[in-house]
Amino acid sequence: MSSTMDDQGQKRQRRVRYKGTHPKTFKDKYKELQPEKYSEDVVKIIQKGNTPAGMHRSICVNEILELLDIKPGETGLDATLGYGGHTLEMLKRLEMSGCLYAMDVDPIELPRTKERLERLGYGPEILTIKQLNFSCIDQVALESGPLDFVLADLGVSSMQIDNPERGFSFKSEGPLDLRLNPESGISAAERLKTISKDELVGMLFENSDEPHAEVIAKAIISEIKKGHEITTTTHLMQIIKTALRFIPESTRDEEVKKSCQRCFQAIRIDVNSEFEVLYDFLEKLPNVLASGGRVAILTFHSGEDRLVKKSFKKYLREGIYKEIAPDPIRPSAEECHTNSRARSAKLRWAIKA
Ligand SMILES: C[S@@+](CC[C@H](N)C(=O)[O-])C[C@H]1O[C@@H](n2cnc3c(N)ncnc32)[C@H](O)[C@@H]1O
Repeated sequence: MSSTMDDQGQKRQRRVRYKGTHPKTFKDKYKELQPEKYSEDVVKIIQKGNTPAGMHRSICVNEILELLDIKPGETGLDATLGYGGHTLEMLKRLEMSGCLYAMDVDPIELPRTKERLERLGYGPEILTIKQLNFSCIDQVALESGPLDFVLADLGVSSMQIDNPERGFSFKSEGPLDLRLNPESGISAAERLKTISKDELVGMLFENSDEPHAEVIAKAIISEIKKGHEITTTTHLMQIIKTALRFIPESTRDEEVKKSCQRCFQAIRIDVNSEFEVLYDFLEKLPNVLASGGRVAILTFHSGEDRLVKKSFKKYLREGIYKEIAPDPIRPSAEECHTNSRARSAKLRWAIKA
C-alpha cells in the first residue's frame, strides 16, 4: 500500500487500486473474488466466455436437474460441492422440504461455499455439509438413510485451478502441490522426489494418454537425479518444454501446452488417488441409493468415463440398476462455446431398481 499526507499532516494509507480492466494476477482480481459484491463485472466476464476468479460455473445444470427429477421432501447428496452451483439448484427444487447432503474434500473452499449458501438462506435445517472424500459415501448414508438422488461432478473447480497457491496450473508460478486436500497425503513435489522412471511413464500414459510420456519422464527423473528438486509449477513446465524441443517449431507451442495439461492432470490424478476413490464410490453407490434412486455423474476425461460406464453396465446386468444412460450426454454447443471447460464433459446416469 502507498501512503500520502492528509490535511493534519498525518500519514494516510491508500487502498491498492484495481489495476485496469484486465488484471493480470490472481490477487489483482479482487473484484471478481467477491462475486456477490461486483455482480456487474461478473456478468461481463461470463458474457465474454470466461470464468470470474473465485467462482465456478456449473456444467450441464438443466440436463442434470432433468435427470435427477428432484421432488420436495426427498433426500439427496451432492458428492462434489465445489462452488455450490449445482447444490443451490438442487436446493431450489426441494422447496425447503427434504434434506440435501453435500460433501467435498477441499478444506479451503468448503467453508467459503458453506457460508455463501447459508447467506442465501440454506442452513442446517435443509443442508448438511461435510468435509469428506466421496469414497466414504456410505458414512453419509448411515446418517441420511437411503438417497433419492446423487450427483458427482468430478475433478477440480475453477477456484482450485485459478489459485496459484494450490499448484494446479502450469500457467502461473506456485508450489507444485496439486492436492484437493492439502492437509492430507503428499504434494506432487514430494511424490516426484521418490518415483522411478518406469512408474512415472506409466502414470503419464495411463492417467492421461500422454504420447511423450517416455521423453518427459526421462527429463524429470534426470533433473531430480542432478539434485534439483522440482518444487514449483513453472519449473515442471520448463522441464516439459525443454524435453519437447525436438517438436517442429510450427506446432511446438501448442504441443507443449497440451502435454503440460496432460502431465499436470496425470500427476493430480495420482496424488489424489482419483481412480481409486471413484472406484470405491461407484462400488458403494448401489447400497446407498433408495429404490428408484437416481445418480448422475459428470466426468472430464476418458479414464473416469470408462470407470463410470463399466460400473453402471455391471450393475445393470446384475439387475441392481433398472436403467442406465445408453450413451453419455454432452453439453450443448452453446454451453461449450460460453464455457470452454464444458467441452470435455460427459454426463452418465443410472436408476436403481
Ligand atoms: C468440478 S468441481 C464441482 C463444482 C460444483 N458442482 C459446482 O457447481 O460448483 C469438483 C469438486 O469436487 C471435489 N472433489 C474431487 N474429488 C473429490 C472426492 N474424492 N471427494 C470429495 N470431493 C471431491 C473437488 O474438491 C471440487 O471442489
